Amino acid sequence: MTSRIDWVRSNCRLLRAIAEDFARTRPFRELTIGTGIHLEPKTVALLLTLKDGGARVISTGNLNSTQPEAVEYLRANGVEVVGERTTDEGEHDRYLRSVLKAEPELILDNGGDLFARYLEDPYERVLGGTEETTSGRMRLARLRSRLARPILVINDSPIKQFAENRHAVGQSVLESFVRITNRATNGRNVLVFGYGSVGKGIAASFRNGYASVAVIERDPVLRLEASFDGFQVTERDAGLKTAEIVITATGEEGVVTEADLDVLRDRVVLINAGHFPAEIAVERIAADPRVARRQDGPEGVTTFVLSDGRAIHLLAGGHMVNLGGPRPLGNSIESMDLGFALQARCLEAVARGRTSPDDVVVPVPSSINATVAEAFLELYR
Ligand SMILES: NC(=O)c1ccc[n+]([C@@H]2O[C@H](COP(=O)([O-])OP(=O)(O)OC[C@H]3O[C@@H](n4cnc5c(N)ncnc54)[C@H](O)[C@@H]3O)[C@@H](O)[C@H]2O)c1
Repeated sequence: MTSRIDWVRSNCRLLRAIAEDFARTRPFRELTIGTGIHLEPKTVALLLTLKDGGARVISTGNLNSTQPEAVEYLRANGVEVVGERTTDEGEHDRYLRSVLKAEPELILDNGGDLFARYLEDPYERVLGGTEETTSGRMRLARLRSRLARPILVINDSPIKQFAENRHAVGQSVLESFVRITNRATNGRNVLVFGYGSVGKGIAASFRNGYASVAVIERDPVLRLEASFDGFQVTERDAGLKTAEIVITATGEEGVVTEADLDVLRDRVVLINAGHFPAEIAVERIAADPRVARRQDGPEGVTTFVLSDGRAIHLLAGGHMVNLGGPRPLGNSIESMDLGFALQARCLEAVARGRTSPDDVVVPVPSSINATVAEAFLELYR
């Protein structure tokens, strides 16, 4: 039977074409690429594409999202994988540091984890690399003067913004809610925190699922945009009081906390779509004296039963919902093929010295966006 990883690899048409190109041009010959990224079928396709370009690839996962089959497949195909799935931050930290011990010339970062640790113990031969996420860009932008190497931020490509963050995350968060809870969205009150690309896609997808969607956003211009897009723009407490599904997509910590326990509705479902598992303050909620007991299960669901009898359901332990719960699929193959094609072409540009030393934490060059867009339109016709 065809495995999911083989299915994904055969459907990543951009990466397949790039792998063929790299096999001829070998841009990473004699270079090591180090990464800490969600290890799942689509990243397998990316890491093997880089390997086809001649790289030694050494990788660990991100917190809680590593899929054992992906690790096994990578190891069988010559990628060095450090560690295994963990929710323990200390253990994860040790895995990341082991990746850096290989002193990779190129770093493919996800959340700024590797570049931040690289600065604690820098080594000369690092050429630069890429950063995948918004959260990582915010973290690394503050360290620009010390990093002083080209680092291209994939997240800041318009392609990544609309194809993955908006369309694909919106669809996969909806898919995850339905898959994990087996409940309908029709007619439900949904409250989305954050109206950046991710929040926009989530709000639109749940509306397409016949839910009634309200948005809470700090930025007044984005609140106006949400209103123009036809969503209710509500005050925090009023929104939380009526919401049956609450979704965070802000990149910030402590967006929903124990301070909200008094206003949350019975049977509310709390979901985080942001990168770090801190948008919902899970530990603080669990430790609150109003929580009488905690129930785990079914897979992907934790329920906090309050002393007044209300039940608060939390999906995927507050980790990114589209990579949690039973049989997580993550974002669509097309969106990840696009994002990872940008990754591969950006790492190639850094390896080949086609970037300037001033390109420290900057968006993907427009020439690479254009190349990838044209290739997608051609290959997916
Ligand atoms: N689940 C996934 O597969 C996936 C994919 C891409 C990005 N992400 C993550 O999703 C998060 C959001 O990404 P984005 O690209 O939309 O970011 P963004 O910065 O464009 O948007 C976040 C929005 O949240 C708003 N905000 C911040 N704190 C808030 C608060 N307390 N209340 C209300 N609004 C608040 C900000 O004003 C901003 O407009 C990031 O953590 C990113 O890494 C997840």
